[in-house]
Amino acid sequence: MFQYNKDITSLTTFGIPVKAKLFAEYSSVKELISIYRSEEFRNNEVLHIGGGSNLLFVNDFDGLVLHSLMKGIVRYDKDDVSAYAIVSAGEKWSDFVEWCIGEGLQGVENLAGIPGEAGASAVQNVGAYGVEAKDVIHNVECFDTLTGETVIFTNEQCRFAYRDSMFKHEGKGRYYVLRISYKLRKSTVAANLEYGPLKNFAENLGHAPSIKETAEEIIKIRNSKLPDPAEIGSAGSFFKNPIVSTYFYKEEMLGRDPDIPCYKIDEHRVKVPAGWLIEHAGLKGYKIGGAQVYPKQCLVIANMGDATSEDVTDLSRHIIDTVREKYAVALRPEVNFIDTSIEITILGSGTSKGVPEVSCACRVCRSESPFDKRQRASALVKTHGLNLLIDASPDFRSQALNQDLYQIDAVLITHSHYDHVGGIDDLRPFCADGALPLYVRKDVYEDLGKRLDYCFRDHLYPGVPALDRIIIDDSPFFINGLKVTPINVMHGKLPIFGYRIGDFAYITDAKTISDEEMEKLEGLKVLVINALRYREHFAHMCVSEALQIIERLKPKEAYLTHFNHEIGLHTEIEKGLPPHVHPCYDGLKIRIN
Ligand code: EPU
Repeated sequence: MFQYNKDITSLTTFGIPVKAKLFAEYSSVKELISIYRSEEFRNNEVLHIGGGSNLLFVNDFDGLVLHSLMKGIVRYDKDDVSAYAIVSAGEKWSDFVEWCIGEGLQGVENLAGIPGEAGASAVQNVGAYGVEAKDVIHNVECFDTLTGETVIFTNEQCRFAYRDSMFKHEGKGRYYVLRISYKLRKSTVAANLEYGPLKNFAENLGHAPSIKETAEEIIKIRNSKLPDPAEIGSAGSFFKNPIVSTYFYKEEMLGRDPDIPCYKIDEHRVKVPAGWLIEHAGLKGYKIGGAQVYPKQCLVIANMGDATSEDVTDLSRHIIDTVREKYAVALRPEVNFIDTSIEITILGSGTSKGVPEVSCACRVCRSESPFDKRQRASALVKTHGLNLLIDASPDFRSQALNQDLYQIDAVLITHSHYDHVGGIDDLRPFCADGALPLYVRKDVYEDLGKRLDYCFRDHLYPGVPALDRIIIDDSPFFINGLKVTPINVMHGKLPIFGYRIGDFAYITDAKTISDEEMEKLEGLKVLVINALRYREHFAHMCVSEALQIIERLKPKEAYLTHFNHEIGLHTEIEKGLPPHVHPCYDGLKIRIN
């Protein structure tokens, strides 16, 4: 059933060499269930891939890669007008489109030529030439890895959006697509010809184009712009077209170049073609190593033969920086970065007053060592191509400037005390081109609503932080497929959250942790935990209490944070700790590979 150390390069369209520690394929739900019940499934990080057309493996995958071989397309006629085409996830998408055309079913012809497998069409809500999969998806049948049962989601329940669905958020990692039911029209005449180049084609043809003619024309347009997957590796569009507020587009972007095109989405938002921005930022054909901005369509990063994942990552970084500098907008990758390494930056390692304390003349507050400057506590976690901020302290502005922070994908809040949320207003630069997801518990959100009511009203004054509040509870949740487990710890009498991400956990402001929550912290490689000072405190752990937790959990390495001035100089703290326990300092970077 399982293959070990499997080369999975050919299962990705980028063609960058990559191996998986474990690999398994299944041709039926029965086979999937036996994989699901195996020890290999239970004890490893699991990644389910489709046609691999939207993935960039940053390093070899240290877990189990699953791939569906489920085949079959079935037709059910609904009435005289429409029919359902039910396609299994492992079918090639282009074979499905061809089948629909052969059956005289209209609806997916504009999606001809898209690489990948049918299952991904629902996850990614694939789109091209004026049509998105969501326009024709009726429902999606999935295997639920939480219950071990199959479940059917209606179109609405899938919460489709531009290149997005719930399968990329809370459903990621949990649901595996088995079959998709498409509701198509019984007609051989094409119906979506509004997209620019298609209009000319229809006009020049002299008759109403058939679905077959339209699909052929689309494949012609695609071939003229996009690399042929059989010859040049790529993942199609590397970036999403940014959606920005009309206000930002007019005020910030048009001021820099009055020719920037846009497509209206609604009253308040426009979509800007990223390919245009990249080309006009002067990056057409730009190369780093074997990776190149594809000259015929700048939205694509091409593997010109020997690109490494580092070349692609460096090039994407360079594109983001150059476009941001020229046009003030931050491009977001459309491609999923599969990067199991984690880099943690301690942005602030101090308690609520920070160190130095205002008006204090003690030797720690007077110390000139940068290791003894402790801003209010927060951390940045980089993994899977995401930048996650844990808490926005009142010192966030200077922390972001010190770290040259340009991208935040989500903010996780531990609790609503001022020293952890006082910097929320300074998140504005990260909300300018869309709402920033903010993960909070319900009571914390309600408290924030009182403290910062102007950020959480229905109608926001232009320019205040635009935050997309996502209410969480004790259950694990997913951010773009990344599993985050809240850890319920007690800050004196107040329950607050720490977070576990992979083999890393961040706990601040805890005094006690229950046995049940300790179980969620087993097997860590790195634990960051608060230790206010040596003396006991009613709501925070002191050093000996934090060391007891570390002794019980036995992470490979542990770091103490949230210090006040009383604890002494950094060099003194370090001397008193076991070899695998270290004091944090502002700017400390910790890496887990
Ligand atoms: N443009 C440039 N330079 C470029 C590329 C584009 O100036 O290098 C301009 C074009 O002239 C046009 C505008 O940008 O005015 C839009 O370009 P295009 O019509 O090629 O579409 P796109 O927005 O760049 C999107 C999808 C493609 C899809 C096409 C056609 C995304 C991220 N990409 O690209 O999807 O094929 O529309 O519908 O939305 C994919 O997802 O892998 C993919 C290829």
